[in-house]
Amino acid sequence: MTTSTTSTTSTTSSTCTFDIQCEILQDRLAIDALLDEAFGLARRTKTAYRLREGSRPVDRLCLTARAGGQMVGSIQFWPLLIGDRTPALLLGPLAVSQDVRGRGCGLALMREGLDRAERLNHDLVVLVGDEPYYARVGFSRVPENQLIMPGFVDPARLLARELRAGALKNAAGLVRGALPSLAIPGQS
Ligand SMILES: CC(C)(COP(=O)(O)OP(=O)(O)OC[C@H]1O[C@@H](n2cnc3c(N)ncnc32)[C@H](O)[C@@H]1OP(=O)(O)O)[C@@H](O)C(=O)NCCC(=O)NCCS
Repeated sequence: MTTSTTSTTSTTSSTCTFDIQCEILQDRLAIDALLDEAFGLARRTKTAYRLREGSRPVDRLCLTARAGGQMVGSIQFWPLLIGDRTPALLLGPLAVSQDVRGRGCGLALMREGLDRAERLNHDLVVLVGDEPYYARVGFSRVPENQLIMPGFVDPARLLARELRAGALKNAAGLVRGALPSLAIPGQS
């Protein structure tokens, strides 16, 4: 894997090179099509979507992956507030085009997003997803009943990764969507 110091990161797996860069306005339609393909049209009914209502993702953490000039992957991170005062990020949605699945694109997008989030001084990332996949980038199950989600979530799929040691211990209570300014460390 090679990482450049510019805003574009090239990640080479055994079979494919992905250029990872910040999402731009012109990507929006292609990203929506990719999410519809990956999750189906019912995706907006999920609890994770409820956390995004009335908010918007953190601009610098909305990334796309391109291969051969085509947009093939997308990841976003959304601002959360846990309890009264603990800011965190929600990872997702993460989607990779069927044509390039299994070639490291999803993991590359997550690694890049988590690196950038850490450099921006975020402390904690949570998500709803399959533990065997997300464990590859350091996520593990949140202790049961520590976080209260605004809708049903299978406890086995509620995962977190600390970007600062001890951050999860201080996070408890209701998880709500927040505005991006609240996700900026030190501004909660
Ligand atoms: C899940 C998804 C993002 C993975 O992207 P990808 O680029 O194919 O993943 P990678 O190539 O980085 O990783 C592939 C590896 O992860 C494994 N993997 C992929 N999805 C997995 C899952 N849900 N559970 C466990 N392992 C999984 C693959 O088996 C593969 O394992 P291997 O390296 O041992 O062969 C992609 O399949 C996708 O868009 N799926 C539909 C949307 C979705 O489910 N998103 C995630 C929930 S938010």
